[in-house]
Formats: sequence, structure tokens, C-alpha cells
Amino acid sequence: VFAHVVRAPEDPILGVTVAYNKDPSPVKLNLGVGAYRTEEGKPLVLNVVRKAEQQLVNDVSRVKEYLPIVGLAEFNKLSAKLILGADSPAIQENRVTTVQCLSGTGSLRVGGEFLARHYHERTIYIPLPTWGNHTKVFTLAGLSVKTYRYYDPASRGLNFQGLLEDLGSAPSGAIVLLHACAHNPTGVDPTLEQWEQIRQLIRSKALLPFFDSAYQGFASGSLDADAQPVRLFAADGGECLIAQSYAKNMGLYGERVGALSIVCKTADVASRVESQLKLVIRPMYSNPPIHGASIVATILRDRDLYNEWTIELKAMADRIISMRQQLFDALRARGTPGDWSHIIKQIGMFTFTGLNAEQVAFMTKEYHIYMTFDGRISMAGLSSRTVPHLTDAIHAAVTH
Ligand code: LMR
Repeated sequence: VFAHVVRAPEDPILGVTVAYNKDPSPVKLNLGVGAYRTEEGKPLVLNVVRKAEQQLVNDVSRVKEYLPIVGLAEFNKLSAKLILGADSPAIQENRVTTVQCLSGTGSLRVGGEFLARHYHERTIYIPLPTWGNHTKVFTLAGLSVKTYRYYDPASRGLNFQGLLEDLGSAPSGAIVLLHACAHNPTGVDPTLEQWEQIRQLIRSKALLPFFDSAYQGFASGSLDADAQPVRLFAADGGECLIAQSYAKNMGLYGERVGALSIVCKTADVASRVESQLKLVIRPMYSNPPIHGASIVATILRDRDLYNEWTIELKAMADRIISMRQQLFDALRARGTPGDWSHIIKQIGMFTFTGLNAEQVAFMTKEYHIYMTFDGRISMAGLSSRTVPHLTDAIHAAVTH
């Protein structure tokens, strides 16, 4: 009965790792998926995560019972505080409902399904380009996906005018997906002044902001600085949704731990919204896993562990920033044609190189360098040792 099933293509991002794993070359380099690697090219478990896990193991009173549908209460509270700030009026007024979800993707999906059922406008505007999974997540959640201009290939920067025009002509009430910081895949973020203009436009048109916050702490190395755009919106008293992921900033990729917060106008509305979120979650996966959320709560609740985390997080962000400089310097020293200054201007995990699909295919075939076809490279996968190899590959790709 399944003989008619046609083979689906690999995922454009995770499929890069599948292809990489099949390549026997000793010089192969995976710059596809956004996952942090050390200078030695190894995955990193943060020390603070090891410590928190040790505490959890030592605590014999801990059991493996089901969590509530909305997840671990303390985790939810601390997650809202992390993104909105300890002094957030919305939190103090109990206007925020937060539910634990399966990392960023799960948070986006639960938020999308809630909106499809309970919000009057079904259109969501996503930036062009955006993370490859956004369109699929929101389409399957029941929303209709449209794009707004974001990236300007000529300047390799923000197309701010295009963004304002497109959001300005969106129908009143439409949902707008915003990358809270470290835009994926472009590494191009609005300035705080531009965010303020975006906020005014969104509020004046009664658009509904939905933040994807997957890189808090990774863009600048500061958790507070990277949360500024979200806090700007939360401070004006209006509604917004926020999907948070701990994959990158705590290195908890495979633990699938994240949170969806919905900032409402009143505490009463927030509690009714939460009751409906439970109806979305229960038939989807019943309730979320306990381990990752317990790690996060252990770290966020303890001042010493929290401080240790911020230091390790800053070290990851700094290593990425130094990789940008090294790659830029190497291309310049090599005399590779083109202006590569965007490598050091863009922020977060990725550089949007400007290389086209053909050049990417060439680099994979000839140099065993794996990256997404749109020319995005994960700076977190690069090290001082591999910069020369990547430089050779880019040089050859643009000159051959
Ligand atoms: C990425 O964009 O590489 C990451 O967000 C990982 C993923 O799930 O795609």
C-alpha cells in the first residue's frame, strides 16, 4: 500500500549534515547546521550544564513523573524573565503566559496553531530570506505565509525601506515574524533606532509581532543587549508572541528545550490564552520532556551558575566574532576579489557570504566544504585551523 510513496528531498539544512557524514574526505568541513563547535571542531557541552546535570543526578528526590501540559512552572517563569527582563511590567502584572515547548521550532508551531485557531487574521509575514523551516512550520500550523523584504543583496545589509513599505502595506492585524536578534540566515539586524521605527509601524497598523528568539546572548555576547528589541515591544503594553530556544545559548540542541510566551493585555486574558494553548499541546505531544527544562531552571535560578553561564556564553560569542575577523583577514591577504567586509559586519552564528548555489556546489565538490545552497556558512563550525582551507575554497569559487 505504500509502493506509490515518492522519496522526499533531504531537509535543506539538516540534509547538509547527512551529505557531510557520507563524505570520507579527511579535510571535510561542515558549515551547514548552526551548531557550535570548539576550536578543535568538537561539539561543546557547557561546564555549567554538566554541573547542573550533576546536581540533578545527585538529587534522589527527583522523579520522572509527567510534567503538566504547559511544562515545568519554574522553567516557564524564569524563561519569561530572561527574555522580558526581571523588571518587566507585563510579568509583574501577570499578563504573560509561558508554556514549555520543544525548542524554538516547537514554540513556533504551538504559537502558530494557537493563532490559526483563535486569532482573526491568518496571514503571517516572514522576512525574505528567513530560516528555511519557518514557511513549513507556519503553513502546517494553518497560517498563510507571505514575505516582507528584508535583505539587500547589493549592500549585503538591511533593506530597511523595503521592510517598511511591505509591512506598511500589510493588511491591518497581520502577524509579523521578527528575528529577535542575529537574523538567520543573513546575520543582518536592524539597529535599535530602526527597531523603534518598526515598532511604531507595527503598532500603528495593529500588526501582531511574533518574535523568534533563538540566539539570545549569541549576537553580542550579552543576554540583555540581545533582548532589547523584544523588550521594546513588550514595554509599550501591546501584545506579542515570543518563541525562545535554549539550543544555541545553552548548547542544549538535542534536549529540545524552549518556551512560547504570549504577552496579553490583561492577566485574565493571559490565563484564558493558556487554557487554549493546553488544547493545542495535549493532542500534539501531551506534555514536554523534563530533563532539558530542569537543566535550564537549575542554571537560571542559581546566581553562581547563571554567572558562569554568561561567561561561557560570551566565550562562544567571542570565538565566533574572532572567526569572522580571521576569515575576513585571510580573504584580504589572499587578494580574493570582492568586498568581504560583510563578514565582520554581520552578527550571530552565520555569515551570508553572497556565494551563489553554483559556487557552493563547487566548494562542496572540490573542497568538501558543506554549507546551505544559499551561501550561508555557520561561523561556529569554523576554527583557526580550518580558515585557510575555507579561504582557498572561496577564492577558487569566485575566480575559477
Ligand atoms: C540552523 O538554521 O542551522 C539551525 O537553526 C538548526 C536548524 O534546526 O535548522
